[in-house]
Amino acid sequence: MNIEKILSEMMLEEKASLCSGSDFWHTKALERFDIEPIMLSDGPHGLRKTNRNHCKTEANDETAIAVCFPAACATASSFDKTLLEKMGKAIGDECQAEDIAVILGPGVNIKRSPLCGRNFEYFSEDPYLASHQAAALIKGIQSKGVGTSIKHFACNNQETRRMAVSANVDERTLHEIYLSAFEYAIKETKPWTVMASYNRINGEYTTQSKYLLTDILRDKWGFKGLVMSDWGAVDEREKGVEAGLDLQMPSCHGKTDEIIVEAVKSGKLDEKYVDECVRNVLKLYDKYKTNHKGGQWDPKKDHELSRKIATECAVLLKNDGDILPLDNSKKICFIGAFAKTPRFQGGGSSHIECTEITSALDAVKEYCDVKFALGFEAESNDPDEKLISEAVELAKNSDVAVIFAGLPDSFEYEGGDRKHMRMPDCQCELIKRAAAVNKNIVVVLHNGSPMEMPWLDNAKGVLEMYLAGQASGGAVCDLLFGKVNPSGKLAETFPLCHEDTPAFIGEFGCGDNVYYNEGLYVGYRWYDKRKLPVLFPFGYGLSYTKFEYSDIKLSADEINADGELTVSVTVKNIGSRAGKEVVQLYVSDKHSSVDRPVRELKGYEKVALEAGESKKVFFKLDKSAFAYYSTDEHDWVVEDGRYDIEIGASSRDIRQSAYIFINNGYLPKVRFTINSIVGDILAHPAAAEVFVDFIKSEVAKEGGQVGIQSVDDFPADLMQVFSDMSVRTTLDFVSSKGITREKLIATLNRLNDIVNDEK
Ligand code: BGC
Repeated sequence: MNIEKILSEMMLEEKASLCSGSDFWHTKALERFDIEPIMLSDGPHGLRKTNRNHCKTEANDETAIAVCFPAACATASSFDKTLLEKMGKAIGDECQAEDIAVILGPGVNIKRSPLCGRNFEYFSEDPYLASHQAAALIKGIQSKGVGTSIKHFACNNQETRRMAVSANVDERTLHEIYLSAFEYAIKETKPWTVMASYNRINGEYTTQSKYLLTDILRDKWGFKGLVMSDWGAVDEREKGVEAGLDLQMPSCHGKTDEIIVEAVKSGKLDEKYVDECVRNVLKLYDKYKTNHKGGQWDPKKDHELSRKIATECAVLLKNDGDILPLDNSKKICFIGAFAKTPRFQGGGSSHIECTEITSALDAVKEYCDVKFALGFEAESNDPDEKLISEAVELAKNSDVAVIFAGLPDSFEYEGGDRKHMRMPDCQCELIKRAAAVNKNIVVVLHNGSPMEMPWLDNAKGVLEMYLAGQASGGAVCDLLFGKVNPSGKLAETFPLCHEDTPAFIGEFGCGDNVYYNEGLYVGYRWYDKRKLPVLFPFGYGLSYTKFEYSDIKLSADEINADGELTVSVTVKNIGSRAGKEVVQLYVSDKHSSVDRPVRELKGYEKVALEAGESKKVFFKLDKSAFAYYSTDEHDWVVEDGRYDIEIGASSRDIRQSAYIFINNGYLPKVRFTINSIVGDILAHPAAAEVFVDFIKSEVAKEGGQVGIQSVDDFPADLMQVFSDMSVRTTLDFVSSKGITREKLIATLNRLNDIVNDEK
């Protein structure tokens, strides 16, 4: 396709029109150049195609059926990139068969608050994990010739006022936490498209932010694909076009196309920006044309894959007295609405019309007969005495009672945030009452985000399934009865209570502003820095077996900042059944010139081990593992010094550690000014000497004397006061006329040279 030729022959009106949708799901046709509409459809954990007949001119409501795979809240917990790639391939095949050019996902927004209504669609509170899991999914989907749209770029961390709110966030936090969830995935996998979010960042809509869409995304990260708006996220399209927004979605019914034409004609908008958008739309069309092959997919096979994936995602939170796996010769009962009607996906644009749904009650027949009691209605809050009494009676007459609990549909959906972190009262009451008559209680959880667990002491076993997709029921039985050994780890912290969470104060903002005052300290970074106890830490998850870690080795004691480090550690399965362990690597920089989190995830590998087997696990670390975002350099930097490498079974269960020195890295530039504090100068011996000499010699010129001959002469109590004074105050506090502002500035410039030359 000769894009430049087409572009040169296009009228301005055609260009403007091509860069907005034709209907809810399609791009526009351009018949005189044989360009057809292509379809963009949700995502992210399966195909939601609400326009089944692929009618290209108007949307219709007939939704195609597809397989609902586990949502990102679950797949993140697998900590398994190979698995995500496999899932991506299956989704890619389904999209090919349904003639989808781009599937709208994955969503990598950071879980700033556990209450965000869309957390179930997002991976983690940790950007490294979110970006790596997303990258694997994108790789899988795009390997099938179907595009992805990594979303929602960026800081769409709440649903409350999502189309108006400004996420006010400092530069370092923006880059280290919120953008870095996108950065690796975009650089590594080159998604065909990026979706700009609804919200504003620091006052500016993301859809019209040149900083975000051009300076960072294209110029810094090298993104070459198309940027589309989230559905209805465009405020002033002419600003968007100039900033790098290529495609407005959905249709604007011609309204903003006219604005673009007018803006170019009046000289307000340079046509070169419109041309760039057209190029990106045509490039996307070309990719679709080159890669679209159609094909078939097998609903049964994908359903089974969804079941397998769900088993790899579940997190075993508690297993006192090895109550799990269950012995199917025992009298087992299932209790709870979610055993019969599983809660396996969230509400909104990711909601999938499933090929089939398996409940735990259906699937358990493969293992044994169980008795069932409803216990509560899924959407109720208040305890129903009749339902609870029936369930308690059943629990009393069983050896083990498995209670299927969690959050109702109405708690987690696109467009709204939760108001609290509690489970419905009826469920908490049911668990407590059942535990009063039977000590063998196992709780299976279905939810997209953490909740408080006031009943935790009442359960011997807790299995977190998250929203595990349409085959959730089969997966849960495979885990409960030990066909599969649980191997998921939490991709987010479960706090003790809502009040402990990092964003609690001013959580979703006041009016149209939300302030990210917690800065970098999101998720475990917050709990660790504040040394807060939590219910379950990031990276935590049990298994039916146990693992032992030994023999950490680094490939070097020292590396240059641009070098690479290999870390190896041996993991042994010391239990009596096969299992998988997620080995986590954290980096801790305790000697930085800037404040840093206690530790940060910088690597993870899932390793399968037979009983008694041991394997060496390897990690390769480059500078991104040690870097922080410098607001002086407006870029990532690695400082010289010592870094601790910690290998853990969770963020709070570090099993092995070692350290490395980094050389030839970044040393922050010193820029003393008249308003610098004296202490900053005194911290540099060479600078301190020159500074004290200057004061002494000026005083001496006038026959005076400074009692202080060197920095060491300062009494400790005075030192603190003096250190915090600005250099400027010497003009007031030292009477010598020779100490002028000009001479001080000249001395400071000398100091800057001395200190920076020293490096
Ligand atoms: C959501 C996107 C979604 C789009 C299309 C928007 O409301 O925020 O995630 O892809 O709708 O359905």
